[in-house]
Amino acid sequence: MSSIHVVILAAGRGTRMNSAEPKVLHKAGGLSLIDRVLRTADSLDPASTVVVVGHLAERVQDALRKRMGLRFALQAPQLGTGHALLQAEPHLAGRSGTVVLLSGDVPLLRPETLAALVETHRARGAAATVLTARVAGPHEYGRIVREGGRLAAIVEHKDATPEQRGIDEINSGIYAFELEPLFAALKSLESANAQGEYYLPDLVGIYRAQGRTVEAVLLEDSREILGVNSRRELADVAAILKTTRNEELMAAGVSIVDPASAWIGPDVVIGVDTVIHPNVYLEGQTRIGSNCEIHAGVRIVDSTIDDGVVVNNYCVITESHVARGARIGPFAHIRPQSDVGEGAHVGNFTELKKTTLGKGSKANHLSYLGDAVIGERVNIGAGTITCNYDGTHKHPTIIEDGAFIGSDSQLVAPVRVGQGAYVAAGSSIVKDVPPGALGIARGKQTNKTGWVEKRKK
Ligand code: UD1
Ligand code: CA
Repeated sequence: MSSIHVVILAAGRGTRMNSAEPKVLHKAGGLSLIDRVLRTADSLDPASTVVVVGHLAERVQDALRKRMGLRFALQAPQLGTGHALLQAEPHLAGRSGTVVLLSGDVPLLRPETLAALVETHRARGAAATVLTARVAGPHEYGRIVREGGRLAAIVEHKDATPEQRGIDEINSGIYAFELEPLFAALKSLESANAQGEYYLPDLVGIYRAQGRTVEAVLLEDSREILGVNSRRELADVAAILKTTRNEELMAAGVSIVDPASAWIGPDVVIGVDTVIHPNVYLEGQTRIGSNCEIHAGVRIVDSTIDDGVVVNNYCVITESHVARGARIGPFAHIRPQSDVGEGAHVGNFTELKKTTLGKGSKANHLSYLGDAVIGERVNIGAGTITCNYDGTHKHPTIIEDGAFIGSDSQLVAPVRVGQGAYVAAGSSIVKDVPPGALGIARGKQTNKTGWVEKRKK
């Protein structure tokens, strides 16, 4: 089996996005367009992958820097799709096999479709095979002109005759090419057309004149080759991705109350019998166990939620872990590097940052707990604040097992409250409280009897 080389075109301007960002870096369904295309390309296990960049090339390259083995070809200026593919020649010279050409702005293509394209291309011994689809109202696309049922030419909309404009079979912009004749043929492309560009689809005519086989593979579901040229199309693509993703999760045993408003990223894992309520966003490398309840308005990013956790309405959880049976929210903010223990409670208007809350501990109301290590069965009273920042440095607070922090206390870090110790409500604790002690640090109350009567006189 000869090898597969992938080339992805991503040099175009993307004018209709009206964006300062490169088009292929816009996101749909939790991934950038180019990331989606690269994932699909990876399914072919290619011998090499080249991305052709041009407009805002550095931004695109920066965004893809972490991807191993990716090569870039610079197209400057951008003189059309045929010219774009030609820029990949230095990376592919001397190689053999099949080039699969993808567009960086066509993100819905399935791996199965690509595999079928390559299979047909090879089975027919074609020099070029184009993926086509039938669409209603094909304004912007190149039209597939057939003679006697066989591919004869691809004509761009702007160059098409009224009769050709009536054709509803279009060029997806996705192709398989044999490497051997490819670059010589690309060099013979001409730009005498309506847009003054070197059109890649003109290869069809060149190959036919050379007596080579050109093929077209018609795709069943034309939505797969939807390109993103505007923000409207970006939203359309995101909606399709959401529907597909949610159907997949529901089939696997996750309840989604309102699939129209659940936005769940491609890498998120969710266990069976978990219920996802409306307007929930689950992003990045998030894992959610089974039998969880994720209530409306919750956003969870790069976090692990174990089995049987309830996240009440309007919580944000980022880069943290919540252990089995814990209860979060409503209106809680769990910031990075926090760890909520088994069966622990984090209640309304409570914020954790880089804080461990031990098994069975409770911080039910209105607290800020930052840089703290809190043991098991600890009770954090309403309004407790760890004063972790002195304006220059962050300091830790340690609260040992079974401690009780009275309401409206400040714990001025670095400070330690020992095992089983109590802190009296309203205290400003600046010194360690030994195990088993009561720490009390507040003004003494005096009552002035008869004060009101005297004041009236
Ligand atoms: C192209 C096809 C058209 C097809 C359509 C499918 C040509 C001439 N036309 O048209 O037949 O129906 O795609 O979506 O090929 N690009 C570069 N460098 C360039 C020009 C474009 O890298 O100089 C890249 C773009 O970034 C994009 C892709 O090539 O990823 C397609 O370019 P675009 O301008 O969108 O082509 P269309 O006019 O849509
Ligand atoms: Ca396009």
